[in-house]
Amino acid sequence: MIKALPSVIKWSGSKRSVAVELSKYIQKSETYYEPFVGGGALMPFAKSPKAIASDIIPELINLWNAIKNTPIDVANEYSKRWHRLQEDGPSVYYEIRDNFNKTKDYFDFLFLTRTCVNGLIRYNKNDFFILNLLYWISLRVVLLVRHLKRDKCCTFTII
Ligand SMILES: C[S@@+](CC[C@H](N)C(=O)[O-])C[C@H]1O[C@@H](n2cnc3c(N)ncnc32)[C@H](O)[C@@H]1O
Repeated sequence: MIKALPSVIKWSGSKRSVAVELSKYIQKSETYYEPFVGGGALMPFAKSPKAIASDIIPELINLWNAIKNTPIDVANEYSKRWHRLQEDGPSVYYEIRDNFNKTKDYFDFLFLTRTCVNGLIRYNKNDFFILNLLYWISLRVVLLVRHLKRDKCCTFTII
């Protein structure tokens, strides 16, 4: 029996917590179809040699393609942003959010899904991603930056 995997993309409405239970109802077939893939919590349970997934959000699909084709790049790009956030504080989040709103960069998108308030992807009517940095990350990053500026001796990771 496969256990639910940690999710790469944090996604509201994810079926991750019930994925093992739901997987009992997935049948063997030639192709597994996931029309509303979101965070893809059920994909690892597909009992088919081939799977087709879709979603209405283009940056999400671009991110899934990057995870499939260049996973090391995805990990490196996430790590770069996460370390910048720890070094320079919450302003990095807003810089990345601004860049995402100009470019729809899917590496920025991944970073926003994991650090914004409750992992909620929300756009305003001008198609701008609008949520703020999750409060506890913001607070811990501010404290960490202060600490690092005082004693420049430690390496940290927050998550
Ligand atoms: C609740 S989430 C899916 C969660 C996913 N099954 C999981 O377990 O992580 C619903 C998804 O449907 C997508 N969606 C909503 N309307 C859609 C449409 N008309 N066509 C394709 N995707 C759509 C949303 O973007 C969202 O990612």
